[in-house]
Amino acid sequence: MAGHHIVAKPLLEIGEKNLKKAKEKGLINSYYVFHAGDDLELLMVHEKGEDNPEIHKTAWNAFLEATERAKSLKLYGAGQDILKQAFSGNVRGMGPGYAEMEIEERVSEPIVIFAADKASSSAFNFPMFRIFADPSNTAGLVIDPTMGGGFKFEVLDTKENKKVVVKCPEEMYELIALIGTTQRYTVSRVWRASDDMVCATTSTTKLSLIAGKYVGKDDPVAIVRAQHGLPAVGEALAPFMHSYFVEGWMRGSHWGPLMPVGLKDSRTTVFDGPPRMVALGLQICDGGIASDGDEPMISDLFCDPAFDMARREAQENAAALRYMGEFEPARLPAETLEYTTLPLVLEKLKSRFKKA
Ligand code: F6R
Ligand code: MG
Repeated sequence: MAGHHIVAKPLLEIGEKNLKKAKEKGLINSYYVFHAGDDLELLMVHEKGEDNPEIHKTAWNAFLEATERAKSLKLYGAGQDILKQAFSGNVRGMGPGYAEMEIEERVSEPIVIFAADKASSSAFNFPMFRIFADPSNTAGLVIDPTMGGGFKFEVLDTKENKKVVVKCPEEMYELIALIGTTQRYTVSRVWRASDDMVCATTSTTKLSLIAGKYVGKDDPVAIVRAQHGLPAVGEALAPFMHSYFVEGWMRGSHWGPLMPVGLKDSRTTVFDGPPRMVALGLQICDGGIASDGDEPMISDLFCDPAFDMARREAQENAAALRYMGEFEPARLPAETLEYTTLPLVLEKLKSRFKKA
């Protein structure tokens, strides 16, 4: 409540109610409702495959109902991510971000779900590179022969709406050349190269490209499979031992240091941030989330003093950037500013510009 920092309890309850109903109807096998800052997150495990209209409709209906409730409470930014009204079977292009991954369940299937707030869709480029391509992060790339074949990355060009698959380690430099340009390129999927097993997906929705103007940051999510011939859970978390910079933060217009946090600290406060990320660990069991009775067993992975250093770095870097005010590099470059007043300033001063 109070601006853009958290999801109010009644809205979380609407998420819960809708997914419970979907489970009772047999549409989904398990669910977990949580929030990343001001974003309502609906985690569903089911056997309907990717892009299933009934699954997408379930999420859409929950978001619409939560929007109505938020409006009735006059909460700020109600339905900010609902960009279109007519639902046609898929939330793609409608506003809400989503990541899906269809898997063949292994003997044991550890999964990490990441969700960020006040960050852009390419906030996962750097950690995905570290997890699946960087041997200084992921020891398994060196030590476990089943990872020796490397990983393939699908990279989306969000401007041209094209995608390309790049293979590491052979094309590591090409991969970095692309995904280092975070304003434009986003890692959307990763496969193990030896057998094309999918091992990571991210949400790639760019709200500003759908809306044609600033309407809120993309606040992306990612799904990462782990262990037994894939990076270990600990290797998937290792990039977050340090803070790194993402686009987003206040008004979606600033570089901000990413702060990994436990669910209890998943609230963006200072300068609407700093950008935060939560990580949830779970095991898939017979098509659902391994549960204790009805309760899905979820570990709040960043709720750990091991990430205190990253949190401290994020605080220090946040202060350093804010000291710069609206001078670059604290503020995003003009071309990527979504909320820019620059055209208005230029228009106002137009007649006063003289040949230099
Ligand atoms: C960023 C975000 C916030 C708002 C900011 C101003 O994704 O949602 O930082 O941009 O609070 O919001 P308005 O213009 O609605 O007052
Ligand atoms: Mg948000």
